[in-house]
Amino acid sequence: QEKMLAPTPPMGWSTWNHFHHAISDALVRAQTDAMVSSGMKDAGYVYVNIDGGWEGERDANGVLHPTSAFPDMKALGDYIHSKGLKFGLYTGPGPRTCAGAVASYGHEEQDAKMFASWGVDFLKYDLCSYREIMKAQSGGDIAKSDDLMKAAYEKMHRALLATGRPIVFSMCQYGLGSVWEWGPGVGGNLWRTSGDISDSYGRMTSIGFREAGLSKYAGPNHWNDPDFLEVGNGGMSPDEERTHFSLWAMLAAPLIAGNDLTQMSEETRSILLNKEVIAVDQDPLGKAGDRAYAEGPLEVWARPLAGGDMAVAMFNRLNGTVRITLRLPDVGWKGAAAARDLWTHKDIGVLRGSYTVAVPRHGVVMLRLSRAQ
Ligand code: GLA
Repeated sequence: QEKMLAPTPPMGWSTWNHFHHAISDALVRAQTDAMVSSGMKDAGYVYVNIDGGWEGERDANGVLHPTSAFPDMKALGDYIHSKGLKFGLYTGPGPRTCAGAVASYGHEEQDAKMFASWGVDFLKYDLCSYREIMKAQSGGDIAKSDDLMKAAYEKMHRALLATGRPIVFSMCQYGLGSVWEWGPGVGGNLWRTSGDISDSYGRMTSIGFREAGLSKYAGPNHWNDPDFLEVGNGGMSPDEERTHFSLWAMLAAPLIAGNDLTQMSEETRSILLNKEVIAVDQDPLGKAGDRAYAEGPLEVWARPLAGGDMAVAMFNRLNGTVRITLRLPDVGWKGAAAARDLWTHKDIGVLRGSYTVAVPRHGVVMLRLSRAQ
């Protein structure tokens, strides 16, 4: 019986969305400090994850060294741990990562041991150049190619287990078959369900709303991952960012912030630190939400919560304000509901049958329903 490493979707921060490859030990320490001082840690964000860009060269003994920007990974891990946070790192099953840096192919056990010795708590494993291996070794046979991919993830999972250190296994694999069907079987605690997000409403919604139908594959210790958050990166309006954060919470998605934590506006803080929306994401029942119904670009999503509560989100994907009607029977709610608005932080009273509310352009109204007394 393996220990549950991710009973609720992992929460943290990653270097990737904001900094890409421009990362260093000093930058990660500054973000670690900001994770604490900004209140992110208290709100539940724990992982400080270094994505692509740390990898240097592999030496004659097969030892993988970081670039000179990371002179001492063990010391950096210790620093992150000293703040009560956890340390995440990135590599892949191929010879090279997506950016062409050295990855773990042929050195899985050796790398896993080294990561464990550095104090790594979370490993993102990105398919990238392993696709070429699959192509070469399968001779174009799709089933064989899929088996090779599964075996590659399983191999690293076993190598991580063998270290004896609990390490969350984040599979970055998308666009090739239904990873959500086999991800749990090869040890994935989360797996990417989409290509890379970017900081725009168009890209964010094309990923987020396309998750409809995948809720049944998510659950404690194995989550669908529609990629990092772009909240606070400047490409979306506050309403669009609230849509992003609400949708990810409805999906039970990992909440991995991707902004510069040392430069957060009040607006950004009010979104990333919204404890009522975070509570939906982290709900202990661990059941993901899904689309209940849609009228063109107006979408109503529902997520069952512990204790018989329900989260409901009404999304307006149109270019102007519009009134959306929540019909309680259509989200599977029987009888009256006591409702609370999770963005205005106000109780809105008892709903009977339906509730109609104005939702701004690209915005959302998100409610928590409880049994009316
Ligand atoms: C891929 C992944 C991204 C990020 C980059 C790093 O594109 O999907 O999340 O890790 O590689 O190069």
